[in-house]
Amino acid sequence: MKINAAVMREMGGPLTIEELDIAPPKENEVLIKTVASGICHSDYSVLHGVLKSPLPVVLGHEGAGIIEQVGPGVTNVKPGDHVIVSLSPSCGECPMCLEEREYLCMSMSKASSWATMMDGTTRLSNKGEEVRQLCAIASFAEKMVVPAGCAIKIRDDAPLDTCCLIGCGVTTGTGAAVNTASIKPGDGVAVIGCGGVGLSILQGARIKGASPLIAVDPVAEKRELAMSLGATHTIDPFNENLKGRIKEITGKGVHFAFEALGSMKTIDDAYSILRPTGEAIIVGVPNLKEKYELPVHNLFAEKELRGSIYGSSRPKRDLPLFVDWYMDGELKLDEMITKRIKLEDVNQAFEEMGRGEGARSVIMFD
Ligand SMILES: NC(=O)c1ccc[n+]([C@@H]2O[C@H](COP(=O)([O-])OP(=O)(O)OC[C@H]3O[C@@H](n4cnc5c(N)ncnc54)[C@H](O)[C@@H]3O)[C@@H](O)[C@H]2O)c1
Ligand SMILES: [Zn+2]
Ligand SMILES: [Zn+2]
Repeated sequence: MKINAAVMREMGGPLTIEELDIAPPKENEVLIKTVASGICHSDYSVLHGVLKSPLPVVLGHEGAGIIEQVGPGVTNVKPGDHVIVSLSPSCGECPMCLEEREYLCMSMSKASSWATMMDGTTRLSNKGEEVRQLCAIASFAEKMVVPAGCAIKIRDDAPLDTCCLIGCGVTTGTGAAVNTASIKPGDGVAVIGCGGVGLSILQGARIKGASPLIAVDPVAEKRELAMSLGATHTIDPFNENLKGRIKEITGKGVHFAFEALGSMKTIDDAYSILRPTGEAIIVGVPNLKEKYELPVHNLFAEKELRGSIYGSSRPKRDLPLFVDWYMDGELKLDEMITKRIKLEDVNQAFEEMGRGEGARSVIMFD
């Protein structure tokens, strides 16, 4: 079968729109007709070499669609089901899955470093040339073959062109606030970087009753959006003194500081604005070879530093839950979508992301 897809052939791009062959799903795999895919900063990081992937590769990992065909052995979904594609294959067999920590499923790290299906091969090719699938997903394509465990069935009345954001950004962000962190009502929270992930953290923190809830972003449009999604204060880190303002607002610093950009400077910022016993939760992903020097005296104020991967989520439980929260009006996702675009416009969307413009662009497939 032929499909159009956006292929990354060299670092920095641009992505090329190519007609690819997609092979049918093998055992424990499913074929999905893509309805929509969000564009996440992690795609941008792969495109710019901050995160590494074998090439050529079809990017995109924030997709939603309709099951078209299932391979042998698949029992969790059937043709016609509406699904969000989870980042975790949730293999159900590895030590992490057995501990109910599907967000650390060992197949997930394989999928992201190889950019293949679980058996090390891919279902995409161009005239015989193998084309990889980012995170075993490759949602910048009209159809996707993914591990069955990645296909999470959701209710039929939820709009897929909005709920696709739950595939990565929303689950990563909201999950970091409601699963990774243990925010209590009245805890002070700061979110550094208010793109799709940061705004989702902010909303999770709002749902948990955080106050004050401080949004930090140099782009005025993002700070305004953050206020409309529940922030009580905003800080422009380029024109205001971050630590000074945090002290002014909170007295001692925040209980939780979330980093949602992926730079060493902002990781340091997050750790530096904590109150004693505060926790810095790093969600943004910098170049994975970076090292962080910890100011030792902060350890004795019992300040903690931890990472959060995929919102510490259990996809089968959390993705449908976040869909319900959206449908009930608790999670505001429409407000986070700046643009709906065609696949051909993906390069322009990456340029806008590089300039910090807009929260999320969503690619629509007819
Ligand atoms: N841990 C995970 O599981 C996981 C999953 C998905 C994405 N991520 C990572 O999360 C990060 C954010 O992703 P996104 O899609 O929201 O990105 P994005 O590009 O949409 O948002 C980044 C935001 O940071 C702001 N910003 C730029 N410089 C800043 C500064 N100095 N201080 C504060 N804010 C600044 C930008 O204006 C923008 O609003 C990326 O590093 C991405 O790779 C992590
Ligand atoms: Zn992502
Ligand atoms: Zn597993």
